[in-house]
Amino acid sequence: MSIQIPRGTQDILPGTVELWQYIEGQARDICRRYNYKEIRTPIFEHTELFLRGVGDTTDIVQKEMYTFEDRGERSLTLRPEGTASVVRSYVENKMYGNAAQPTKLFYIGPMFRYERPQSGRYRQFVQFGIEALGSNDPAIDAEVIALAMDFYKGLGLKSVKLVLNSLGDTESRKVHREALVNHFAPRIGEFCNDCQERLHKNPLRILDCKKDREHELMKSAPSITEYLNESSQAYYEKVQELLTMMGIPFEKDPNLVRGLDYYQHTVFEIMSEAKGFGAITTLSGGGRYNGLVQEIGGPETPGIGFALSIERLLMALQAEGIELPLSSKLDCYVVALGEKAKDAAAKFVYELRKAGLTAEKDYLDRKVKAQFKAADRFNAKYVAVLGDNELEQGIINLKDMNTGEQEEIALDAFVSYVAEKVL
Ligand code: HAM
Repeated sequence: MSIQIPRGTQDILPGTVELWQYIEGQARDICRRYNYKEIRTPIFEHTELFLRGVGDTTDIVQKEMYTFEDRGERSLTLRPEGTASVVRSYVENKMYGNAAQPTKLFYIGPMFRYERPQSGRYRQFVQFGIEALGSNDPAIDAEVIALAMDFYKGLGLKSVKLVLNSLGDTESRKVHREALVNHFAPRIGEFCNDCQERLHKNPLRILDCKKDREHELMKSAPSITEYLNESSQAYYEKVQELLTMMGIPFEKDPNLVRGLDYYQHTVFEIMSEAKGFGAITTLSGGGRYNGLVQEIGGPETPGIGFALSIERLLMALQAEGIELPLSSKLDCYVVALGEKAKDAAAKFVYELRKAGLTAEKDYLDRKVKAQFKAADRFNAKYVAVLGDNELEQGIINLKDMNTGEQEEIALDAFVSYVAEKVL
């Protein structure tokens, strides 16, 4: 049997890869405008990083990591997300000492989670994410959310909804935690084994349980927003005020807890409301993680960020019927007729390419008609026809495929002539 691609992964082939390139280009452009700089971290890290960073009671760490031992018997893990790696690098490279603060970073790259594959859920997926480290200003929360929304709008998405919540500071969370334990403890026997374990380790995780989602105690569980202390409440209100000033609509959801342990204060998700999007409607998620840098061994530093996957973005674009403005035209196809002309065509496509044009010729010894067909398939803007006779006369025939107009051009002026037309 032939070897097949691993479950939950995909090949991105020519014809589709252009969509990815376009989206990645837009991501880089929006980061340029918001002044976020690119960071590239390794695909694998020490497992310990994610245990400490993402949290050892999360589904990601307990069930979804690709963890392996290398030949030196070190436990390594394919990164399931980008934030922990960025924070590790921030600490390791002492970026908190950089002159420009806050430190604003972005990344685009593959992440790996051993999840049950389904529509919008892959085992390898590409995240575009940003992280802003070193500021406790609610305006940076609003900025991160604005960038995310701006990105989707810029690509033409209309049916996106921003959902907002606050998980409060350490003190608020502690009081809420006690309330959760008191709420669930008397009937914890009705919950799954994971939840029973979560009760004392991290009761907030119970609210994110996929198995017990429908249990009646879930709906009546105490919500964090009732337990926010004064400063957490004020922070949350300021973020909302700024979003309102920016004209970014949002919905508040006191049950939004997110699937990673590092969050405090602001958390948010952006959902697609497009018809036919599928069961998983979350396009992106993020929030504030003020304790994470310290957890990874750095100085106390606040941080906030978000990430989206390009896979789900493409699904949303498709669900909304949005065509990205891609151009896959060939500038010039050189049709050759005769042995000498064939060699000359090789030289001319080389010259055209050096001049910056997308150029192509035949490599399969095809007849003229088939060469024209190939030019058509490539969507060529111009087709140049070169025969042995023309070669002797020092001319080439150039056809504008848009207008159908033809003209004869002197061979020594050919490349600069086409370049001027196209570029
Ligand atoms: P997350 O919510 O785990 O957050 O993932 C962010 C986004 O990645 C999701 O909203 C979704 O678009 C995409 N995603 C997650 N899992 C999959 C999957 N299996 N297949 C396809 N797409 C997926 C984080 O990863 C945080 N690091 C975000 C963050 C950055 N928070 C602060 N800074």
